[in-house]
Amino acid sequence: MQIWPIGIGVLIAVIVGFLIWLQSMRRNIVDEEKEYYSVNRRVWRLLAPFYDLIATPISKVRGQVVNFVGAEAGAKVLDVATGTGEQAIAFARHGYDVTGIDLSADMLRVARRKNRYPNLKFVIADATGLLFDSGKFDVTSISFALHDMPVSIREKVLKEMARVTRPGGTIVIVDYALPRNRIGRFFIHSIIRLYEGKTYRDFVKSDLKGLLADVGIQVKEELPVVLGAGRVLKGGTGGAPANLKRSSSQMVDSHRAPSWAAPHEIKAGIVQRL
Ligand SMILES: C[S@@+](CC[C@H](N)C(=O)[O-])C[C@H]1O[C@@H](n2cnc3c(N)ncnc32)[C@H](O)[C@@H]1O
Repeated sequence: MQIWPIGIGVLIAVIVGFLIWLQSMRRNIVDEEKEYYSVNRRVWRLLAPFYDLIATPISKVRGQVVNFVGAEAGAKVLDVATGTGEQAIAFARHGYDVTGIDLSADMLRVARRKNRYPNLKFVIADATGLLFDSGKFDVTSISFALHDMPVSIREKVLKEMARVTRPGGTIVIVDYALPRNRIGRFFIHSIIRLYEGKTYRDFVKSDLKGLLADVGIQVKEELPVVLGAGRVLKGGTGGAPANLKRSSSQMVDSHRAPSWAAPHEIKAGIVQRL
């Protein structure tokens, strides 16, 4: 009896099974991202008027970040997922040329209302597909936003930050961390867990530095903040930014009618080259 037809049959079944599995994984990621954009819009629409009040415990961190970065006078700074713009305003106060971008028109409305600086502008945009030229900024920062993002979005955002930061420039990540000592860890972690979702719990336990290394960002310095419940990571791409060219899929993503923005918002800030 010839067994090779059985072998070929098994091989075809394995390949088909693998393709079906790959497709379902892709669908899961796409569904997770869709859900993320929809939840993001609704949550920040609701919280935008109160966000600065809610974020009072981290208000001191803004100045600490500016000092820790120590950028040169006149530096071009991009604050990604800027929200109500508190970090961007702290950079602008020091005279830097600052752009804050965010998905949420509601959060940006609050940011624009507070803006008293000619050297600061806010633009609605998706950080997973920025329309800035590669290497445009001396400093890019992101605060308290990565922990909310699904891993696939987090990775795209970090890749984009690496791309738009000039070789030798600075990339700053500010977000939650687990306090080093056990008592702090127990109390602070338990409190934050009450109001942050599951992504926070996964985020603080995840290997953020590993993810940063994967996208070509080397962390050079670290500063614990808010009693160790947060940390500021400062690094760069070591002079050779990863993915300097924007990938065609990102171009397509940012031009596809995004579910999170109204057409006039897209026209105003996203499909326009900056
Ligand atoms: C917790 S708030 C942080 C705001 C601010 N960075 C701060 O430190 O207070 C998270 C912000 O990230 C924004 N965001 C989430 N995903 C984004 C994306 N893909 N592109 C741009 N902004 C995004 C949300 O709209 C929201 O304003």
